[in-house]
Amino acid sequence: MKIGIIGAGVMGADHAHILSTSVAGVEIAAIADADAGRARRVAGENGIGRILADGFDVVKDDGIDAVLIASPDETHKPLVLACLDAGKPVLCEKPLARAAADCLEIVRRECGIGRRLVQVGFMRRFDPGYVDMRRTVESGELGAPLIMHCIHRNESAPAYVEAQGLIANSAVHEFDAARYVLGGEPARISVVIGRATSKARIPDPQLVLLEFRDGTVVDIEVFLNARYGYDVRAELVCEEGTISLAPPHATTMVHRQHDGFQHPRDWRPRFADAYRAELRAWAAFLSGGPAAGASAWDGYVATSIAEAGIRAQKSGQWETIELAERPALYGAGA
Ligand SMILES: NC(=O)c1ccc[n+]([C@@H]2O[C@H](COP(=O)([O-])OP(=O)(O)OC[C@H]3O[C@@H](n4cnc5c(N)ncnc54)[C@H](O)[C@@H]3O)[C@@H](O)[C@H]2O)c1
Repeated sequence: MKIGIIGAGVMGADHAHILSTSVAGVEIAAIADADAGRARRVAGENGIGRILADGFDVVKDDGIDAVLIASPDETHKPLVLACLDAGKPVLCEKPLARAAADCLEIVRRECGIGRRLVQVGFMRRFDPGYVDMRRTVESGELGAPLIMHCIHRNESAPAYVEAQGLIANSAVHEFDAARYVLGGEPARISVVIGRATSKARIPDPQLVLLEFRDGTVVDIEVFLNARYGYDVRAELVCEEGTISLAPPHATTMVHRQHDGFQHPRDWRPRFADAYRAELRAWAAFLSGGPAAGASAWDGYVATSIAEAGIRAQKSGQWETIELAERPALYGAGA
């Protein structure tokens, strides 16, 4: 299968590296970036033969069977719709689109075609820890889930990130992961903004509460300027016990009066296994296997939760998460 990549920034470069070194059955045929120098660099590093001027050129190119979108959020909707119109499978980085109405337009276009073509880059669905949590919930071994505690910390946020980015770009991963683990839908959301760190110009950290339709509560600490590194945690409290993500470190180090492990500076090392598994599952789908990972519907739900969360940031109240009727194309469950 010949893949075209749109976006040669942090994620595009990482995906290109994984696809060219760790995924069988695919070849990256072309790459496009608004910054031609970046496209050239990533092409050179990964043996990509062609550089195209524009993302839409990638979609239209007859030599490309499937498209990976890793350009900024606002480019996702038009590019995904172009892929659907061309009948090409597309792996789009999260979020599927910034507005729930735009995600729904994508969902409806895909339903009109009648088969799954869109996968959204919520890679935690491929992280061994979350996979095990979901399996444990499904097995019933620990009884019903009651509360899920989540922590999402970054070393520092770029200066352009606004307060709503904590919800729409960061907590959105937990929104999808919680739906994936719990297998249900959230009904309402609230956001508590307390004392802010002096190290940021936006209200940071923020505490998000989600209440699922069955009453399960999910709390999410989002802290973009936690300073010490990238750190994601989760503990699911059930009737008969708890299950948590284990620290993902293979080694610990003793050095200069300190005994412990290092936190990575960003998400790429933490979720390296998940990105690899995500791209392998996509490649298997492209070769005729089942659709895997987050669907366009999951992308729509995640953005709908984020929209309600941004309303809750402003109102200081619980906000209801309104969802359209789930189309049959996406089956049941999250
Ligand atoms: N799944 C994850 O863990 C994860 C992590 C980080 C970012 N993301 C998502 O991935 C996407 C890319 O994020 P990033 O961190 O790589 O950003 P980035 O800024 O590093 O890279 C984006 C690239 O897209 C290029 N670009 C801009 N407009 C373009 C256009 N119209 N056509 C083609 N290229 C264009 C830019 O020049 C840049 O090289 C975003 O949607 C982001 O939300 C996902």
